[in-house]
Amino acid sequence: MNDTSAKPVIVISGANSGIGLAMARELLARGHAVLGLVRDAAKAPLEHRHYRQQCVDLSDPEALQARIAELCRCLDVPLRALVNNAGIGRMGYLEQLSVSDLREVMNINFLSHAIVTRAFLPLLKRQRHGDIVFVGSEAALHGSQQGSIYCASKFAIRGFAQALREECGKSNVRVSLINPGAVRTPFFSGLHFEPGEGEGNAIEPEDVAAALVTILEARPGTVFGEINLSPLNRVWRGK
Ligand SMILES: NC(=O)c1ccc[n+]([C@@H]2O[C@H](COP(=O)([O-])OP(=O)(O)OC[C@H]3O[C@@H](n4cnc5c(N)ncnc54)[C@H](OP(=O)(O)O)[C@@H]3O)[C@@H](O)[C@H]2O)c1
Repeated sequence: MNDTSAKPVIVISGANSGIGLAMARELLARGHAVLGLVRDAAKAPLEHRHYRQQCVDLSDPEALQARIAELCRCLDVPLRALVNNAGIGRMGYLEQLSVSDLREVMNINFLSHAIVTRAFLPLLKRQRHGDIVFVGSEAALHGSQQGSIYCASKFAIRGFAQALREECGKSNVRVSLINPGAVRTPFFSGLHFEPGEGEGNAIEPEDVAAALVTILEARPGTVFGEINLSPLNRVWRGK
């Protein structure tokens, strides 16, 4: 990886859309260097001298393992933080979802983040400094109808993050989880519903980016285990 600045880097998956994009923009504005892990390199909403991206498909666990190992080997700057953000929604009553839907959601929303984290963790532990942040959801806190596999994937991330936090404290590596309710992003473009119009009916992606900044800027001896954010009201509308 050709990073001439040698600034510690913050790795963010899904950095070219929605929450990940807002996080990348906010961190770049604050002087950090960001490495985006993106599915589609052609979709390039960010141009900044401290931003670079690598193409990574999170849906195939076997291919991901090799790809991410290669990325870790080539990382030539310290890793300030890893933000596991990418995710998809497949909503519907369980019998309406195919087995491949179930596999895809678990692979992208959970297993890929476990694989990416496993690959970067030795580096963070060697450095004895750094943050691992997961983007969960309010679906990680309680199940709701038509959300069976999505909730399962987010419950899995929450359990994973809690266990990892216990494992990593002695190495000075902090593990945090952000659980937003409805955020106004392209997440809903393939779904049959979206947050209602009006500023109180959805969180903005920049609000989630602000939660990330709070986590990263906490005194080193303090860890924000979980941050839950909700829109003021829960108003949905069908499409
Ligand atoms: N929006 C909400 O209401 C909400 C609420 C709670 C939690 N979340 C969580 O927030 C996270 C970000 O979602 P968002 O709202 O920002 O939605 P988004 O705008 O759709 O962003 C999702 C990101 O994940 C990436 N991604 C999806 N599949 C991928 C794959 N196979 N390989 C690599 N990258 C992949 C997407 O890449 P492409 O741009 O190439 O598709 C995109 O960058 C997700 O984990 C989601 O579950 C969202």
